[in-house]
Amino acid sequence: MSSPTSRTWFITGCSSGLGRAIAEAALLAGDNVQATARKREDLELLEHLGAGRCQGHLLDVTDAAQARRVLREAAENAGRIDVLVNNAGYGLVGAVEECTDDLVRQNFETNFFGTLNVIQAALPILRGQKSGHLITISAAAAVANYAGFGIYGAAKAAVEALHESLRAELLPHGLKVTLVQPGPFRTDFIRRSLVRAPAMPEYAGSAGKFANYLSQVDGKQPGDPERAAELIVKMVQEGQSPLRLPLGRYITQKIRATATARLRELETWEQAACGVDFPS
Ligand SMILES: NC(=O)c1ccc[n+]([C@@H]2O[C@H](COP(=O)([O-])OP(=O)(O)OC[C@H]3O[C@@H](n4cnc5c(N)ncnc54)[C@H](OP(=O)(O)O)[C@@H]3O)[C@@H](O)[C@H]2O)c1
Repeated sequence: MSSPTSRTWFITGCSSGLGRAIAEAALLAGDNVQATARKREDLELLEHLGAGRCQGHLLDVTDAAQARRVLREAAENAGRIDVLVNNAGYGLVGAVEECTDDLVRQNFETNFFGTLNVIQAALPILRGQKSGHLITISAAAAVANYAGFGIYGAAKAAVEALHESLRAELLPHGLKVTLVQPGPFRTDFIRRSLVRAPAMPEYAGSAGKFANYLSQVDGKQPGDPERAAELIVKMVQEGQSPLRLPLGRYITQKIRATATARLRELETWEQAACGVDFPS
């Protein structure tokens, strides 16, 4: 049974991993979930778990018309959408030169344009309500990138830049915006959601090494999706909305190291950089 104070979540990519864990945590907290997946059977367990508080929708985020229709149906069914979670995404491993045009565009089609499709479909609803929390799953590759993750990191970095604007644009409309930055999490991501571009021997020591590293850490990632989902639900329950919510020790250390290195580089170049302005 949902209570009068329960929220409605709309979550993409609920077939597994973080999306499923967030849906389960929201249901456990007594909230309602409009869950999406690409295959019907992936929604059945969640609907069963939700006991009337979870409704499934088929959605491939690359289909903008489908996103508009599903968001409209979800809002009509639930009466409102309080929390939108853009979780659907997949990785592309390969040196920039190894990644074919098709692979690059497909990855952006899901990770960037898919996220944008869902946001643009949801905004008229959220703005109309004058409240709502837009949460999008980013990645460590958007904080500082590795050899072999250029395209995936670029798509996630584009998502991050988009959200910085969204936060400024949506604040006057009463809407909150948060980027969730997971480090390595023990989901199906490496096994199922990682495409490998055709390898070139020239990149064996960089992108190839990274691809090998990923296959070795599969199943041993430190991040626990259930604990991550609990923190996301807690953040929403407490009315908190940081622009960025890092998840896991790995990424907190990475953010600190990246910020420190950027500051050092700025200090090295600051005087020369300021010297290119017109004299005042
Ligand atoms: N796990 C990590 O270490 C990690 C770290 C940083 C960021 N992330 C991000 O976290 C998010 C969730 O990944 P995960 O780790 O939970 O992996 P996962 O278990 O493989 O889940 C990925 C989800 O995205 C869905 N998806 C992919 N393309 C889609 C599309 N075009 N339309 C709709 N759904 C689509 C998948 O659906 P199907 O089942 O139909 O394929 C699946 O539900 C992703 O955005 C990923 O980039 C993960």
